[in-house]
Amino acid sequence: MDPQTLTELLDVAVLDRLDRIDDLAGDDLARSKALRKEGFSAEVTAALLTQAQLRTEAAAKLGPFADDMLFTRDGLAQATRLPVAAHHARRLIGDLPEDTTFRIADLGCGIGADSVAFAGMGAHVSAVDADEVTAAIAAFNLRHLPDASVENTRAEDVDLDEFDALWFDPARRTIGKADKRGSTARITDPDAFSPSLSWVIEKAGAAKAAGVKLGPALDHDLVPEEAEAQWVSHNGEVVEVCLYFGAARQRPGRGALVMGERTLLVHEDDLPDEDEADIGELGKHLLEPDGAIVRAGLVAALCSPLQARRLHPKIAYLTTDVEPSGPASAGVTAYEVIDVLPAKVPSLRKELVSRGIGSVVIKKRGADIVPDQVRRQLKLPKGDKATLVFTRLGERHVVLLTQPV
Ligand SMILES: C[S@@+](CC[C@H](N)C(=O)[O-])C[C@H]1O[C@@H](n2cnc3c(N)ncnc32)[C@H](O)[C@@H]1O
Repeated sequence: MDPQTLTELLDVAVLDRLDRIDDLAGDDLARSKALRKEGFSAEVTAALLTQAQLRTEAAAKLGPFADDMLFTRDGLAQATRLPVAAHHARRLIGDLPEDTTFRIADLGCGIGADSVAFAGMGAHVSAVDADEVTAAIAAFNLRHLPDASVENTRAEDVDLDEFDALWFDPARRTIGKADKRGSTARITDPDAFSPSLSWVIEKAGAAKAAGVKLGPALDHDLVPEEAEAQWVSHNGEVVEVCLYFGAARQRPGRGALVMGERTLLVHEDDLPDEDEADIGELGKHLLEPDGAIVRAGLVAALCSPLQARRLHPKIAYLTTDVEPSGPASAGVTAYEVIDVLPAKVPSLRKELVSRGIGSVVIKKRGADIVPDQVRRQLKLPKGDKATLVFTRLGERHVVLLTQPV
């Protein structure tokens, strides 16, 4: 969105129309015609419909708050989900005694999702964003929170000494190279993040307390020794790795936090000694560990609490003879193993057809297949549902015929 369109969008009458946009019936074309008839310019009409669409999409991340916010497509894509932002706030701010002033800087605040959580926890938030439109949108989104302010400036130009905590969520997408839908591509080189990862880590390491949100594919070698690195999944999706420093660090080393209906924390201290990591025969159940645990390299830590063993040293599946229970079961999806089938498509098809299976979910680890391609090649007639797991037992490529537990 360009600054001129944003200025027009921030007009009270336009914002009021956005809040009432659901009273317009029909598809986008009909709604657009109706808005033009009401006297809105073509640009404002387009902006209103885009904001209405983004608010709908944002509800998945930000719940009912989305209906009172403005977005850019890129800003929404990069925004932290509210429950995860609340977790960041708890880690950085904790329980504030009454009458305490706790100052936190959000250094690249985007549309302001993390700042909303920080301010909601009672902190005084100074948010900055280098992008003019994004900073103005964050200011709008934080307007009800009197202890939050937003400035359009670069993180590198902020005096960081005055803060009790620093929050960094560096931009990891290309700027100004958006495709037709306004989406941008992921940057993988940490020196090309904005601000750069080396600058962020230097400042975070020197702060009283700091958190750094990064993409979950982060190379483990880039985690500074003094930091706590926590990979996080929310409702089954791996969303980030967060590095914590100073007072925000609870347990140095690698950890995983599974957030959802149930919560689970796993830490590298829970890993068995190398030679105790049990590799064994396929049991009654196959366990698929949560992606945050896999990314953190902590799959073996689930063996003992789930009475499970690994199937293969390099493949992130576990197996067990007992149905998973207890807190650690929140870290896996369990499948009952019904049979071991051949991995070659013609023989696999024969086995599936003979069992009346016609609809398959395909999972794979340690197998070089493209699930959609295999599904097409199988050309199964209508029949029962099953989950097929393409993997290896030792050196043997197999397909495990399973049903979710
Ligand atoms: C990943 S987004 C932040 C998302 C935010 N935490 C949220 O939950 O909404 C990163 C933001 O940093 C901004 N940015 C990039 N380089 C910056 C810099 N040097 N200083 C300040 N902001 C910067 C980008 O404009 C972008 O809005």
